[in-house]
Amino acid sequence: MENLLNQKNIDIILDYVSDGIQIINKDGKLVYCNRASAIVDDINRGDVIGKHLFHVYPSLEEQTSFTFRVLRTGIPIYNVEQTYTNYRNKKITTINSTFPIKDSGEIVGAIEISRNITDVKALSEKLIDLQNQIHGGKNREGIKSDEVKYTFEDIIGNSREILKIKSIGVKVAMSSSPILIYGNTGTGKELLVQAIHNGGRRRNKSFVAQNCAALPANLLEGILFGTVKGGFTDAYDRPGLFELAHGGTLFLDEINSMSLELQAKLLRVLQDGRIRRIGDINTTKVDVRIIAATNVDPEIAIKKGSLRKDLYYRISTITIDIPDLKDRKEDIPLLTEHFIKKYNKRIYRNVKGISGEVASIFQSYDWPGNIRELEHVIERALNIIDGDMITLEYLPKSLIRFHRNMGTEALKENLPLKDALENFERRMVREALLKNHNNISQAASLLKIPRQTLQYKMKKLKIDVNI
Ligand SMILES: Nc1ncnc2c1ncn2[C@@H]1O[C@H](COP(=O)(O)OP(=O)(O)OP(=O)(O)O)[C@@H](O)[C@H]1O
Ligand SMILES: [Mg+2]
Repeated sequence: MENLLNQKNIDIILDYVSDGIQIINKDGKLVYCNRASAIVDDINRGDVIGKHLFHVYPSLEEQTSFTFRVLRTGIPIYNVEQTYTNYRNKKITTINSTFPIKDSGEIVGAIEISRNITDVKALSEKLIDLQNQIHGGKNREGIKSDEVKYTFEDIIGNSREILKIKSIGVKVAMSSSPILIYGNTGTGKELLVQAIHNGGRRRNKSFVAQNCAALPANLLEGILFGTVKGGFTDAYDRPGLFELAHGGTLFLDEINSMSLELQAKLLRVLQDGRIRRIGDINTTKVDVRIIAATNVDPEIAIKKGSLRKDLYYRISTITIDIPDLKDRKEDIPLLTEHFIKKYNKRIYRNVKGISGEVASIFQSYDWPGNIRELEHVIERALNIIDGDMITLEYLPKSLIRFHRNMGTEALKENLPLKDALENFERRMVREALLKNHNNISQAASLLKIPRQTLQYKMKKLKIDVNI
């Protein structure tokens, strides 16, 4: 068969890949350079082939050049960031991998493959500067960041689960051990993290939050650890969030989205309490409490390979799981009341409560967006309400549709009308009791039935207030 992987085709391939590729012989002379590499460095291949590397890249030195290190040691180097000045005096940052070329065990040259990240790097430095402007100023004046507004009192709920979370939170707030919080979207992770920061000794120090899913690994590393000179936007050193959070708390949200490489670096910081800015040879001691959050079960994240086991062991000394709202429906009445009060005040309303029908929908619905969804439902209702009761018509389509299906569910299940009505009655009675903290007289008056009737119904429907 015809050999399609011939020299001509290899040349085409090499010229059309987006990474730069160079080959250097053992004397340090450039023997090959593909098109991508020539474009990045703004060089004319005809002019530089055969020239010494330091002639082409005057800013390189033998001690700092990775190519020379590979020529010397014969050991490949993977994915290291390098900043240099090209022939036209432009600063370029690349991620390089360099491999030795050996002939009968002897090093005869090196291949360097590089990805140009100059634009990404410049963007990252701008971002770090912005972060510094946000956090740095407050830090210097010792003013608490405004984002940290919540305390344990703001965590509403009387379910066993939420009371336990609050009591653990209060205790662990006093220490500096790392904490891992797991909960689905909208369950109140950020709220809890802020309450812990505010409830402990670090309350007057900075609180810095970073979502690890929001940024690519390269940017995140610079933002967390800082960078030293070699900049593009400005040539000064930049502290990272670890340094800005010194003395305080660093909240790393969606930790499972952090690259595994960066997770390893984070683990090192947790172990020795020192950070190294990118490009720096020195390390700095930092005193930061790490609180990490994940909305994926950590065990599943480990299995899937998105969370390092060793990091998990280090940060899971204290683990707090926040259950979904559907698994602690007892909290719904209090939360409902809380959000009504909040939005009454905010948008000048005077809403008194929710109708029995709405209460029953709230109890049956499974709240995929958890507390955030409940809050939005109430905020929306208060925006469009005319009277002082939230009734069905003020609920969003999704809940109305759910309510309609509740009826058809009963039909689908072939439930006799008597049983379907009984189910509905049971939900309403439960809701009224929950809302009134199991006070039967008050629940009866909410349902507008005599106390004895409620007691009779509870017996018939097998509802026990002690459960
Ligand atoms: N127990 C609670 N009491 C009062 N408000 C709560 C409670 N839990 C959550 N909230 C409110 O619900 C909203 C969502 O909470 P938060 O932002 O803390 O959720 P999260 O778990 O961080 O969600 P995500 O994973 O989507 O970031 C916030 O407005 C928060 O104040
Ligand atoms: Mg959050």
